[in-house]
Amino acid sequence: MSQATSDYVLRRPVPADNPSLQRLAQSMWPGVRTDVFAKRWWWNDPEAPHCRVAIHQPTGEVAAMCGERRTRLWHQGRVVPVGSTFDWYVAPEHGGHGLGRKLVECGQNEFEYMVATSASESANKALPRLGFTHRVRVPVLVAQPVVVAALTRAFAPAHATHNLNLTTHLTAIDQVWNAQSATGPTMMVRDSAQVRQHLALVPRRSYRAAAHWRGSDATAWALYRTLPAGAIRRAPWLRVGLVSDFLYRPDAGRDLLPLLHHVALDLARQGCSVMAMLCSSSELIRWLHRAGFVSGKHPITGRWMDSIAIEMMHWVSPRSLPAANLPSFMDGWHVTFADNDADLVAGNLLEY
Ligand SMILES: CC(C)(COP(=O)(O)OP(=O)(O)OC[C@H]1O[C@@H](n2cnc3c(N)ncnc32)[C@H](O)[C@@H]1OP(=O)(O)O)[C@@H](O)C(=O)NCCC(=O)NCCS
Repeated sequence: MSQATSDYVLRRPVPADNPSLQRLAQSMWPGVRTDVFAKRWWWNDPEAPHCRVAIHQPTGEVAAMCGERRTRLWHQGRVVPVGSTFDWYVAPEHGGHGLGRKLVECGQNEFEYMVATSASESANKALPRLGFTHRVRVPVLVAQPVVVAALTRAFAPAHATHNLNLTTHLTAIDQVWNAQSATGPTMMVRDSAQVRQHLALVPRRSYRAAAHWRGSDATAWALYRTLPAGAIRRAPWLRVGLVSDFLYRPDAGRDLLPLLHHVALDLARQGCSVMAMLCSSSELIRWLHRAGFVSGKHPITGRWMDSIAIEMMHWVSPRSLPAANLPSFMDGWHVTFADNDADLVAGNLLEY
């Protein structure tokens, strides 16, 4: 270890780091509000913040940080602990000491499996150097809620889709989860505990959830919300609804359409002119195109939409899951906004 590197210590952040985190935010995004890290959702886990920092010992300053959400992957009937990387920054004046690598390696030592969502060219280049592979652009699908509601109306039997009470009524989520088979798609665990963790990390956000039933059996559910006005910096007037997460029983994929009808109507009532979903299954994307969504795979709007696709990569510990056994993010893997923290980060400058 070089003399310069031994000047740094890696640990979880504590509230006393906030003034220093503000200075880091200021150096990353000059001119934007600097308390963005002080109220980041990763503080809201009483166990420990989902984040690590590198402290420059001589000054006590936060020199670098790396978010690392603790979650679980479900693969061939096995649950695997996962670290999901985001908020990865090295202050320019502390570059050249390998701090980016060291922070990510902490997670690699702890988790069998890591997922990275990249929002920058420098991360796209650095992550493969750290062993992340299977880089893929997962399409964001976008539609007008009124169009989705109109196109899916025919699939919507009366009274079969209801809103769920997110504080008391999450059994529908477990019903759908328990119906997944061991040979089904690889995905982040989507039981009610996972949804509760997500909601606990962002307690002030106005999520809604809905489920579709056949008799007393829930067959599909969705978690959604409206982003605050101004959340899309390039189009601050746009009111956007986000379908953060969704799942359906393997034998009831079609039930996603009446569910979408319900969600689209609700988002339209809340004033959304656009709704967005993240979806990795080609079969599902075909259904969503028929429901009025466009994506990077769409023949007409594809090129423009591809520019807002989300870059994902994963890293597998050599001591556990063999990489060859894992499907890519496209097909065989169910990816939504909830998986890659895009939902947790979206609108974060405006809401906590
Ligand atoms: C992305 C970032 C955190 C990486 O931090 P860093 O200090 O460069 O990390 P390290 O020096 O430990 O580099 C890790 C590896 O990636 C490589 N790397 C880093 N930046 C690179 C680049 N732009 N091009 C090619 N390789 C790069 C390094 O060479 C190193 O590989 P090596 O150890 O095999 O030589 C840093 O560049 C950064 O803060 N960027 C701006 C903010 C940002 O875009 N964050 C990502 C948001 S998702």
